[in-house]
Amino acid sequence: MPSEVKSIVIGRGSTRHAKTLESVHATSFESSWDAHSISGWISHPHGFSAMAMEQRQSPPFAFALALAAGDNAELLTIAVGRDYRQTGVARKLVAFLDQQADDLGLERWMLEVARDNDAAKKLYTSLGFEEVGVRRNYYRESTGAVDALVMTAAVGRLQV
Ligand SMILES: CC(C)(COP(=O)(O)OP(=O)(O)OC[C@H]1O[C@@H](n2cnc3c(N)ncnc32)[C@H](O)[C@@H]1OP(=O)(O)O)[C@@H](O)C(=O)NCCC(=O)NCCS
Repeated sequence: MPSEVKSIVIGRGSTRHAKTLESVHATSFESSWDAHSISGWISHPHGFSAMAMEQRQSPPFAFALALAAGDNAELLTIAVGRDYRQTGVARKLVAFLDQQADDLGLERWMLEVARDNDAAKKLYTSLGFEEVGVRRNYYRESTGAVDALVMTAAVGRLQV
């Protein structure tokens, strides 16, 4: 996190900031999502979201999107701006989503993570997620196909 940042504010995602969130996603993924699809998930009737800002009115530097599907809470994506990583921002975003999932009466978190994404695997394991399956060659990256690990955890029980 830049040294001048003293605190962060976490709130629900806002379509007003979709262009900024598009930039955050583009610095985080080889195949990133555009502002239109990010807006679509934020305003989806079964979607819920979190974003992080330095102050309530400032542009977001990190966000996460989730979807309620039956009893499941699916983590669709999470991205933290490069300058803000490894300072606990992702953990705070997931904690905020977990509260919403609990309020919605959801039971189980589900997510997919690329087998070669060590930072994300560390994040999820640290939160208490467990691997329950593998989707072979799920991601197509410039270096070739990569498996997705399927991970799960109980809503309201994350180690945030
Ligand atoms: C993965 C990502 C969201 C983590 O965000 P973050 O804000 O840096 O994570 P946090 O600071 O909250 O760290 C949470 C835990 O993960 C660990 N972690 C995070 N990044 C790590 C890294 N690069 N190497 C090792 N551990 C890492 C932290 O040490 C911490 O564990 P601990 O509390 O047990 O010490 C961020 O690296 C990112 O945006 N990556 C690109 C997008 C991406 O891969 N998203 C996930 C797709 S499934």
